[in-house]
Amino acid sequence: MTGVICGTGSYTPAWVMDNNDIAKLVDTNDGWIQERTGVVRRHIIKDETTVSMAVESGKRALENAKVTAEEIDLILVATISSNVVLPCTACEVQKAIGATHATCFDIGGAACTGFVIAYNTAMVYLTSGVYKTALVIGSESLSTITNWKDRGTCILFGDGSGAVVLKAKEGKPYLPVTHSEGAKGMALTCKSRYERNGLTGASDIQELLSAEHFMQMDGQAVFKFAVKRVPEVVREVLTVNDVVQEEISYYILHQANKRIVEAVAKRLEEPLEKFPMNLQEYGNTSSASIPILLDEMNRQGKLKSGQKLVLVGFGAGLTWGASILEW
Ligand code: COA
Repeated sequence: MTGVICGTGSYTPAWVMDNNDIAKLVDTNDGWIQERTGVVRRHIIKDETTVSMAVESGKRALENAKVTAEEIDLILVATISSNVVLPCTACEVQKAIGATHATCFDIGGAACTGFVIAYNTAMVYLTSGVYKTALVIGSESLSTITNWKDRGTCILFGDGSGAVVLKAKEGKPYLPVTHSEGAKGMALTCKSRYERNGLTGASDIQELLSAEHFMQMDGQAVFKFAVKRVPEVVREVLTVNDVVQEEISYYILHQANKRIVEAVAKRLEEPLEKFPMNLQEYGNTSSASIPILLDEMNRQGKLKSGQKLVLVGFGAGLTWGASILEW
């Protein structure tokens, strides 16, 4: 038994902050941000929340898959920026869409590897025969845990949500590869967990909290980690599954930074065209970046039946992992 993606959906907030808007908050400029990161603008919540975006992307994925909420056995939400600690975002999605038969839980700390870990978890349930249909969502309001006074991080992140519907199907599953290196966890940290609605309303909270309550990052350490580990894990997942690079149509990398994507393509000696990017529009949306990109490609008709894709997540923990899937 294996599992296949039979529908995708995404939601990104209407409010856009471009690099010039960021330059009003910290000492930076559009040219520097574009050159070092590739990011041009990011979508930021105003009235939305991690839950509301997850609900919307989930609904759109169900519509696209032509699957009803009652058919779903499992809802997984990958997020590091849930509205509240309890109840979990997945249960909130269940409530909103009426997926009364589903088992629901969040996958929290895997950060930017979160969607790949959630996808793998759902696949294990499907391939083992426990469940038949799963809704897997990545949803983040990173603006609520971003330090808008730190130019080393606030230029990078954005908000949004993406979702896929997975169905069990006869066939042999691909094995995923995942790794963690807790010893290097201090490269990307965040202490706080609190409710906040939008950037403007957060200014008082920002005053009350110290820098360590927001995401803090050793940018160069994270950059070096990514450009080393991502090509490694791609080669590993291909070897484990006896697949060669020529068979892969697209590498769907977590959308952290254009220079990381370019460095990975170079190290794998693959053309950049096989590495689709939308980080210029959304910035780094952590666990949401891969499903948002998948949804855009799906709706643009770029994904054809039978194509092989590699999904790669990497980020805080440190954690990283790759999965092969057939469209
Ligand atoms: N605007 C203008 N200048 C900036 C700046 C900004 N937003 N941020 C830093 N600088 C300055 C620094 O102060 C430094 O100045 P100095 O040379 O006078 O000391 C200079 O630019 C270079 O800083 P550095 O930190 O070495 O830049 P960098 O090339 O490493 O780029 C990142 C910084 C964050 C863009 C880069 O390290 C990165 O992308 N890292 C990976 C981050 C990531 O993807 N994280 C998520 C993974 S899931």
